[in-house]
Amino acid sequence: MNNSMVKYLSLCFLSVQTASHVLITRYSRTADTSHPYLPRTTVALVEVTKLLICIAIHFCNKGFRISVTFTSILDEVVRKPKECLKLSVPALLYVCQNCLLFVALSNLNSATYQVCYQLKILTTALFSVFMLSKRLSSTQWLALLLLTIGVVLVQVMKSEDDGSMSDSTLGSVYASMMAVLLASCLSGFNGVYFEKVLKSSKQSLWIRNIQLAGASILIAFTSLYLFDYEAIQTAGFFQGYTWATWAVICLSVISGLTVAIVVKYADNILKGFAVSISILISTFISFYFLDDFEPNFGFFLGAPMVIGATFLYGMNFEKAKPA
Ligand code: C5P
Repeated sequence: MNNSMVKYLSLCFLSVQTASHVLITRYSRTADTSHPYLPRTTVALVEVTKLLICIAIHFCNKGFRISVTFTSILDEVVRKPKECLKLSVPALLYVCQNCLLFVALSNLNSATYQVCYQLKILTTALFSVFMLSKRLSSTQWLALLLLTIGVVLVQVMKSEDDGSMSDSTLGSVYASMMAVLLASCLSGFNGVYFEKVLKSSKQSLWIRNIQLAGASILIAFTSLYLFDYEAIQTAGFFQGYTWATWAVICLSVISGLTVAIVVKYADNILKGFAVSISILISTFISFYFLDDFEPNFGFFLGAPMVIGATFLYGMNFEKAKPA
């Protein structure tokens, strides 16, 4: 298989995977609201699964030798608490980001959510400029401006449509919008911070991910203890779980590992393109099959702007060199 074929295949895979992740998460939060699952339990399970997978990949990389794998994890993770501490910052913020996305998808349809979450391209660019001293071309700045205007159009026109909603529903929609905006900021910061840590040392991606998942597990289970202890005592850890909840967990694991690989091999652009294509897939499925979405004028104007801006930004990526 040649390089461009691999690129197109990964683009298809990423687009379908991103669309299914968002659609199934939305479905899992809205299908049976009489007994909803606790989102923090899924965040904790996702981190445990990612840790096990990263250990398995590290084991393969070490030639399937148990003692070598064990010693290297001991040396690189347990005996280097400072390195683990460095990753506790993104670990904490990723746990918050992952929980915020459940809040967002409980009240926003998949298409609106995805368009707004593309703001992470803007936040990633800004954090890259400030933290990694990257330089952006004028076309890229123009693309970021278009992206922001597109998201604002989708949001503002959506708010005007909301006149018929009750106060409590409107409050939940605003809370979800705030959640997606905050998650975009966290995504930008976390992505750039992780890239900086990864590229500033010789530790392998999988060791870094073991450190990240280890810290995330501690944080996720502490948050479960603090916020969900009573609910778990009353109805159990797996309360409200359905096939959709398990699908959300599997797809979150796949997305997390994809993000890790994308950061390592620097094809963030491919990921941006994939999300744009997945917006089209989610919009189509939300509208035709799930009856969850009625595009308004703001969406018709804003969504193509966001998708176009993503491509414009990505096409000019090669020109953006570190200062
Ligand atoms: O790109 P975005 O910020 O939306 O995706 C971040 C997701 O990837 C989070 O769910 C985070 O837990 C996961 N991730 C990961 N390993 C990394 C970096 C991110 O699992 N090294």
